[in-house]
Amino acid sequence: MNNSLNRYDGLRAFRWENDALELLDQRRLPHTVDWVRCHTAKDVAEAIRDLVVRGAPAIGIAAAYGTVLASRGSHFEDDVLLLRAARPTAVNLMWAMDRMVAVADSGSDRLLVEARTIEQEDLAANQCMSKWGAERLDRGCGVLTHCNTGSLATAGLGTALGVIRYGYAAGKIQRVFAGETRPWLQGARLTAWELSEDGIPVQLIADAAAAHLMHSGQVQWVVVGADRIAANGDVANKIGTYALALAARHHGLRTMVVAASSSIDMRTLDGEAIPIELRDPEELLSFAGQAVAPTGVTAWNPVFDITPAELVDVLVTEKGLVEHPNRARMHDLFGA
Ligand code: MRU
Repeated sequence: MNNSLNRYDGLRAFRWENDALELLDQRRLPHTVDWVRCHTAKDVAEAIRDLVVRGAPAIGIAAAYGTVLASRGSHFEDDVLLLRAARPTAVNLMWAMDRMVAVADSGSDRLLVEARTIEQEDLAANQCMSKWGAERLDRGCGVLTHCNTGSLATAGLGTALGVIRYGYAAGKIQRVFAGETRPWLQGARLTAWELSEDGIPVQLIADAAAAHLMHSGQVQWVVVGADRIAANGDVANKIGTYALALAARHHGLRTMVVAASSSIDMRTLDGEAIPIELRDPEELLSFAGQAVAPTGVTAWNPVFDITPAELVDVLVTEKGLVEHPNRARMHDLFGA
């Protein structure tokens, strides 16, 4: 890896220790650094559902290690179903499970090798995408990112955040803005933490400030990750991404989506067919345990949205870049 990037790659969201999966508890960051030890596949499925571990590639990798734990128990098939169902939107989860199940007959040691391979491939993809994505940025630019797409969300370095790390190290990026990412605050709690730990200056904005920020001229690119990209190039990502891409297009700014090929789902025709996770309304109705809305009020809490392909200027993957993605260009790079 490029030497200048090594210093941005010290953080890991998981570790396999003494036959168990340990997950950095992302619910408690940035003020408490604590690890949750998973001994069973059920523990891993719960950790994914409860957002101990989150971010599309990290979910897939955690589930892969969860499959190793499943193979050591006596309910393999049930455990596989449990892991698959932990969260619906990020296709990396189903992709990783398919890879694990394909080698399950070869035994637990083989499954552990496969999980480690999935993890290593993700890190290698991120290194590659970070460089290619940063090359597309103009010197001296400002970027706005959303949610958390860094080491915490992947095997290391990150997707969109990898591009930002690389772009900053290369002297291309001058200003980094991160949306707070209500309601779970991945931007405020996780992205701002990762960048601060790296010594990369970041300014946090309320999600609602994004269009005004664009109007101010301080950013030229929106750089985000993805949870699933359909065969026509439509992108499912953290709720609010669609609004950012719309506002960016209005202001003549560009939107870059950075995602490993494990997030590409050529079997799903378009964004309409991507399942969007609805989470507990409580995530919106209360904050840090305190109610913020009147008793009896309900809430609608979709945690992902679909950005139509025509709003994406460039998709960066480890297999190559897709300019202005559409069905034909996606097919050229990823096949049927
Ligand atoms: O609900 P989360 O925190 O799992 O959502 C994460 C995102 O939406 C990320 O942008 C996406 O998974 C890409 S992470 C490299």
